[in-house]
Formats: sequence, structure tokens, C-alpha cells
Amino acid sequence: MYAALVLFIFMCLTTSHADHHHPCHSHNMSGLMSVLSSRGDTRAFGAFTYDSVGQKLRFQSNESSPTNSSIGLDLLMYFAEGILYEIDSKNQSCEKKKLQMTSHPLDIPDDAKFSSTVTYGSSSIEDEGLKLNVWGGKLTSMKGSYTMYVTMGCLPVNTFYFTETTSFFFSNLDVELEIKDPDLLVVPSFCHGKQLEDTPEGTVNSFLNEFM
Ligand SMILES: *[C@@H]1O[C@H](CO)[C@@H](O)[C@H](O)[C@H]1NC(C)=O
Ligand SMILES: *[C@@H]1O[C@H](CO)[C@@H](O)[C@H](O)[C@H]1NC(C)=O
Ligand SMILES: *[C@@H]1O[C@H](CO)[C@@H](O)[C@H](O)[C@H]1NC(C)=O
Ligand SMILES: *[C@@H]1O[C@H](CO)[C@@H](O)[C@H](O)[C@H]1NC(C)=O
Repeated sequence: MYAALVLFIFMCLTTSHADHHHPCHSHNMSGLMSVLSSRGDTRAFGAFTYDSVGQKLRFQSNESSPTNSSIGLDLLMYFAEGILYEIDSKNQSCEKKKLQMTSHPLDIPDDAKFSSTVTYGSSSIEDEGLKLNVWGGKLTSMKGSYTMYVTMGCLPVNTFYFTETTSFFFSNLDVELEIKDPDLLVVPSFCHGKQLEDTPEGTVNSFLNEFM
């Protein structure tokens, strides 16, 4: 799987050409997200809600289809404030943490570099192709890089993250360009008044790190 990914990226890079695109910003969205690790195991599958204006993201993994290595997560990220909440609705507990890295698979970082335009499937047969812009850059706060595949309408569909130790593949599925349930982006009452937890030396809190 890893070799296939690398080959795939390499093929994309070899078709790249210089361009002076600027990263677009995505719309409000609701949909499903799947997270695969480079070993080919599903780390999480669940629903997300994203407010592109307020830069807020909720992700709740769906435990009804757990795989061997999947992890249960309920995350609420406030990127503008640099805050992450790890929520446990069952026992109404909540941890509040400071974000060290704000990259996530629903928005292209402002400093991303345009790489190329590719077409998944066919570019000549109607409705059988998906034309995507490829963006990439380095991760902040940790060694690594990312590559994002984004539709012409600025909807990120796939994101690869490569770090020194592992890599991850995020896919966004069944996306709708609206916030279906705004309450999901509100901090639950049982999180109110929580103190920011200390970040141990060497720890990076980010959306990506939650899946490691
Ligand atoms: C996105 O959602 C936010 C929060 O609900 C709302 O204030 C904003 O107007 C929405 N933006 C668009 C373009 O729909
Ligand atoms: C989890 O998945 C099941 C089956 O696909 C679905 O019926 C259920 O609504 C999902 N739950 C959440 C919280 O998304
Ligand atoms: C998960 O996978 C490991 C190794 O592939 C295996 O040893 C273990 O029994 C599996 N666990 C479950 C719950 O399937
Ligand atoms: C809530 O449950 C999780 C596991 O489901 C556990 O790790 C956590 O410590 C619990 N928190 C409290 C406050 O009981």
C-alpha cells in the first residue's frame, strides 16, 4: 500500500508544472471521513461537520463499524483559537488542549504550493472523471509533509500526510456544502470551565496526531 502511494505521488509530481495558483478556502461542509494508515488499516470512519468561516471542525467516529485498529474519537477543534476538545459524551467528560498544529484535511493551508492538476478516471468520457488540483507543503511543528487533492470547486477530497514514522490517508465522502447540525460545533456544557491541559514536552496536539 505504501509503495503504491509513493508511486502514485511520484506519478503526480512528474506531471506537475509551475503555476501561480493561490489556495482557495473551502465551503461549510458536512460529510463522512475515513482515515487509513500506511499499513492499510482503517484508523477511523465517521461523520464530520466543518464551519469554514468560524474554522471549527467536529469529527465523531462511528463505532458501529469498528475494524481491528480503529479508534473511537469525538473531537471538536477551534482552529482560530488553537483549541482542541476531546469529548466523551457517554461519561460526559472532556479534555481541553492547546493545538500545536492547525493543518487539517478540510482546508488548504495558506502557504500550500500548487503542484499540478490531475484527473482521476477519464478526462475524455463524460461523468467518468474527477479533475483535481494537487496542493502540498510541509507540516509545521513536526517533520513531515502533506499532499491534498481538491476539486475545482475547492472541496478537498483526499489528503495524504507523511511523517518520519508513518503516513495517513484521509478521504472525504458524501459531502454536502452546508452545516447540517450547528449544535455539533458548540462546546458541550460539560466542557465549560475546563482548564487547558499542559502539553508534555515533545507532544504535538493536532487533528492528525489524534489518529496516530
Ligand atoms: C458557514 O457557517 C457559519 C456558521 O453557521 C455561518 O455563519 C456562515 O454564514 C456559513 N457560511 C456560508 C458561506 O454558508
Ligand atoms: C453509524 O453508522 C450506522 C450504519 O452505517 C448508521 O446507521 C449510524 O447513523 C451512524 N452513526 C453516526 C453517529 O454517524
Ligand atoms: C487484530 O489483529 C491482530 C493482528 O493482525 C490479531 O492478532 C488480533 O487477534 C486482531 N484482533 C481482533 C479483535 O480481531
Ligand atoms: C470516561 O471514559 C473513558 C473511557 O471510555 C475514560 O478513559 C475516562 O477516564 C473516563 N472519564 C471519566 C471522567 O470518568
